[in-house]
Amino acid sequence: MNFKPMTAIAALLLSVPTFAAADADDDVLIVNGETELVTKAPAPAHLDGALDEVMSGWHFRADETQALEMDDFDNPGMLAVEAAAEVWNTVDGSEGKSCASCHDGVEQSMKGVRAVYPKWNDAAQQVRTMEAQINDCRENRMGAKAWKYDGGDITDMVALISLQSRGMPVNVAIDGPVQATWEQGKELYYARTGQLDLSCANCHEQNYGNMIRADHLSQGQTNGFPAYRLKNAKLNSVHARFKGCVRDTRAETYKPGSPEFVALELYVASRGNGLSVAAPSVRN
Ligand code: HEC
Ligand code: HEC
Repeated sequence: MNFKPMTAIAALLLSVPTFAAADADDDVLIVNGETELVTKAPAPAHLDGALDEVMSGWHFRADETQALEMDDFDNPGMLAVEAAAEVWNTVDGSEGKSCASCHDGVEQSMKGVRAVYPKWNDAAQQVRTMEAQINDCRENRMGAKAWKYDGGDITDMVALISLQSRGMPVNVAIDGPVQATWEQGKELYYARTGQLDLSCANCHEQNYGNMIRADHLSQGQTNGFPAYRLKNAKLNSVHARFKGCVRDTRAETYKPGSPEFVALELYVASRGNGLSVAAPSVRN
């Protein structure tokens, strides 16, 4: 079969419009009966009208999946968070230190941190993801081995740290020293790749709300990451998700932690500026 851009997208999309009533756009995400999260917000100005409103991926999931995210006792991602809380206090590496040795309690020291990541690190003169920062602490401050970039240890730790910002608005910088990286991420977002010749925007900007195979397409926001997926029964990092999406276009993918994925993560995060951090989320 010969794939052309239009036939590819037509083959992938059943072009069924959103069933307005099924996952009503008016659903409200309240966690533990007390914390209401912002899951819809006016699109950031830098989107130049490409979207009117940005929406958390939570809105596009089935009611049962949504419910799992509404109570921490039901949210399977919370077990990983608990495991990471123990690691936070565990000494590792040649310096005899734990995360807590320098950062004390995670609740206080990491409050608000996730909302502004990825962010510029002045000493390193680069944009750092949370994963890169954690591994920098492990290697250069603890004398411990770096964790695998998208492995379980680090993803669970990112979830623990992200939880301390739950409910706070995503607010990553897009100008100043990060601007060049942000521009690179934007280019990657709109670049068509792979045999199917699809960009991120083709699915997540132009077709969100439509069904693709059995999946209800979201805007591909990252405010809920790390995300617990029922499909693989673990927390998944942003770069692991990107990898899966790029593979779906039948393209060679970049490596988790690569400069390309770091740039893409910054850009995608900025598309969600204004949405609440909602990690750990639950997805199918
Ligand atoms: C062929 C269509 C397609 C393309 C192209 C695509 N994705 Fe996705 N993506 C999906 C589907 C399907 C899902 C799972 C359902 C959903 O959340 O949209 C998904 C999920 C995601 C999620 C998780 C959202 C959440 O709230 O759980 C992110 C983030 C994401 N994609 C980012 C990207 C990025 C960045 C690109 C470009 C490199 C991309 N996607 C390209 C189809 C696509
Ligand atoms: C020996 C002290 C030390 C230890 C141990 C340590 N860190 Fe750090 N950490 C720092 C310092 C100093 C900074 C600020 C570094 C910078 O800005 O370059 C930092 C920054 C961070 C940040 C970014 C905070 C922000 O506001 O941007 C995170 C996240 C972090 N550490 C996580 C961890 C985790 C997780 C561990 C354990 C695996 C850990 N750190 C262990 C000293 C430490």
